[in-house]
Amino acid sequence: MNAEQVMSQFRATGVQTCFHDRHINPQIYAGLDGSNWSLRDYEARGGYQALRKVLGQDGGEGLTQDQVIATVKDSALRGRGGAGFPTGLKWSFMPRQFPGQKYLVCNSDEGEPGTCKDRDILLYNPHIVIEGMAIAAYAMGISVGYNYIHGEIFEAYERFEAALEEARAAGYLGDKVLGSGFNFQLHAFHGFGAYICGEETALLESLEGKKGQPRFKPPFPASFGLYGKPTTINNTETFAAVPWIIRNGGQAYLECGKPNNGGTKIYSVSGDVELPGNYEVPMGTPFAKLLELAGGVRKGRQLKAVIPGGSSSPVLPAHIMMNCTMDYDSIAKAGSMLGSGAVIVMDDSRCMVESLKRLSYFYMHESCGQCTPCREGTGWLWRLVDRIHRGDGRPADMALLDNVAENIMGRTICALGDAAAMPVRAMIKHFRPEFEAMIRADAGTRPEAPAVV
Ligand SMILES: Cc1cc2nc3c(=O)[nH]c(=O)nc-3n(C[C@H](O)[C@H](O)[C@H](O)COP(=O)(O)O)c2cc1C
Ligand code: SF4
Repeated sequence: MNAEQVMSQFRATGVQTCFHDRHINPQIYAGLDGSNWSLRDYEARGGYQALRKVLGQDGGEGLTQDQVIATVKDSALRGRGGAGFPTGLKWSFMPRQFPGQKYLVCNSDEGEPGTCKDRDILLYNPHIVIEGMAIAAYAMGISVGYNYIHGEIFEAYERFEAALEEARAAGYLGDKVLGSGFNFQLHAFHGFGAYICGEETALLESLEGKKGQPRFKPPFPASFGLYGKPTTINNTETFAAVPWIIRNGGQAYLECGKPNNGGTKIYSVSGDVELPGNYEVPMGTPFAKLLELAGGVRKGRQLKAVIPGGSSSPVLPAHIMMNCTMDYDSIAKAGSMLGSGAVIVMDDSRCMVESLKRLSYFYMHESCGQCTPCREGTGWLWRLVDRIHRGDGRPADMALLDNVAENIMGRTICALGDAAAMPVRAMIKHFRPEFEAMIRADAGTRPEAPAVV
């Protein structure tokens, strides 16, 4: 299926892609119409001016590596892949004087349920990622980069390859970029479609051609990354934010958002809204405004709950969510995480037991199986929730659920274990009566009710 066929499939289901007029001050999705992805279009939008500025090809003096990193630090750009780690700080960890090969990796694995922002960036504005990566590579003294693209979005991979060809032919990539002394070879890598390959060390393993399983940390990728060499890895949206920052300055980017949460953020709004899709708005935008942009709750129903940052972020009830602004600090204060910015809206017709059952099944399925608490615990969680949902739940199951979740958290190699456990604990915390009502309905007394061990 080519990109246009995929698009018409989306349109037929009413899903909004990034090109609509309901963004607020967009930087990454600005001016996109679904077809203007090429180098010529990107340059017409001011594309590659930031790289020219950095390399002193615009009549200026150029920027030093330290100046680029300082600008990104000033911007308060935080990683858009989930953890929200400050990007400038991460770049400063790269041992620039390391004499051997160093690598830059873009994480376009985008597998978090609800998240669909990076694929729109790659499809409709691929050069913004290439430019952001080239600037990052310059700042950290890196000459080789890879973009690891999720296996199930082949059309985005093809589009990125086409954009790479254009950038190479125009001298934005390769040896002596724009005639300067800076060399940067960038390659696309087609991933294999496993959720766990989005975890940065599993991604590196997969990129090396091995089974995509997370590594123990430390050592972190900055010192032991791809092929054991110093590596910086950032999300697609993180790199895509960089050209605007360099063109307009770190302070201007910071002021687009709020302190400690610079710039705009792309939210993938899905679930029970009239206009599901990607929305780019400034950090600190009230959730109520984002909901309004997405057409409000479907069919005029009441808002019940929201998963604010992808399936691994704890669910928040409507009354808490309606008082939040969309930024890392506000959502954390409310007891959840902004994560990848996938906002899953649930109306008052949603059964929370069923919702949790689906989430738990996902994590059981995606566990790579390396560590016992995750391998065994995710299956145990799913079987417990499934039992409650079938009406075979027992009164002790609530405590057991919480106990199993608690014993996964913090005891695994990577954060998938926590990602499986947190939604369970949040559901119990906020919607316990719904679970208890299902248990009381049958009280687990049916003789055929299976044990869950
Ligand atoms: C189970 C799991 C899945 C992840 N999936 C993704 C992903 O699809 N895309 C992504 O950018 N980061 C993902 N991450 C986070 C990455 O490990 C890493 O923190 C991120 O790519 C760093 O980029 P950033 O600093 O720009 O956010 C995942 C983490 C875990 C634990
Ligand atoms: S926590 Fe789960 S996914 Fe992560 S390494 Fe352990 S078993 Fe694998």
